[in-house]
Amino acid sequence: MDGDVDIGAYKVKSAHPSILGVIEQRKNIKERLSKIKHKIGIYSAKGGVGKTTVSVNIAYALSSMGYKVGLLDADIDCPNVTMFLGIKDIFESNYPLKPVVKEGVEVLSTAMFVDDTRTPIVWRGPMIGKMVREFFENSEWGELDYLILDMPPGTSDSPLSIIQLLELDGFVLVTTPQRIASVNTIRSGVMAKRLGVALLGVVETMSDGKPKGAQDVADTLKCEVLGVVKENKKFGELSDRGEIPVLSDPEIMKEFNGIISKLVNT
Ligand SMILES: Nc1ncnc2c1ncn2[C@@H]1O[C@H](COP(=O)(O)OP(=O)(O)OP(=O)(O)O)[C@@H](O)[C@H]1O
Ligand SMILES: [Mg+2]
Repeated sequence: MDGDVDIGAYKVKSAHPSILGVIEQRKNIKERLSKIKHKIGIYSAKGGVGKTTVSVNIAYALSSMGYKVGLLDADIDCPNVTMFLGIKDIFESNYPLKPVVKEGVEVLSTAMFVDDTRTPIVWRGPMIGKMVREFFENSEWGELDYLILDMPPGTSDSPLSIIQLLELDGFVLVTTPQRIASVNTIRSGVMAKRLGVALLGVVETMSDGKPKGAQDVADTLKCEVLGVVKENKKFGELSDRGEIPVLSDPEIMKEFNGIISKLVNT
């Protein structure tokens, strides 16, 4: 094939049928998500650093500012968003996948397919890729200013499929102060950069107030520290009750308003 073939993150000289398949899938998904202005992934390769916490609270802080917001639980095999929000809805029929509206935010999660929190979703790589694609191709979102994606940890199948299939505005990276977290968060940032996804900045959770892990990530990857979220046991207590921290605590809302004020200006 003559000339460059543009598949978003990559430009290739000639295209194998499998690559053409991905181009077609990206096109379908782009049309499906065409009513969404901005798509932002909340990401770190490290598990347990606060990705879901940051996703939920950024989504509701944006919504409180008057933006129309969707929250997609892109942690396909270990979905947590519905528990954090106290959503118990289960899809009666499979398609199309209509988000559940909770306090004004449209929410969609694979947890809505499984009516038992003890059931693990066990899939090999190709199934994960297929599931991610079906999830995006069959979801029906309203007109949104922002879609926030709670990304899975790791740098393999799930995050790769999402990066390959979706045109994201970029990633907000999440780390804790610890070096082990920042090192693994840097790994995810390097992967994102290599695949052409912008880094919108980094948030430090469970912080003492002064960015340490986030500064490490920002200095290494040449991106901005968007803000810190202080260590606060209210996060665990509220999330366990399905309550939304930014809507329950003005101090937490202040922290997230600081973060999103930088995000909406990027
Ligand atoms: N600032 C904070 N202070 C105290 N606890 C926090 C804070 N942020 C998050 N947590 C707690 O840390 C735990 C892990 O957070 P969370 O589930 O958001 O991480 P994650 O990165 O999404 O994890 P996973 O990789 O498993 O998806 C939760 O119990 C959450 O309540
Ligand atoms: Mg999570």
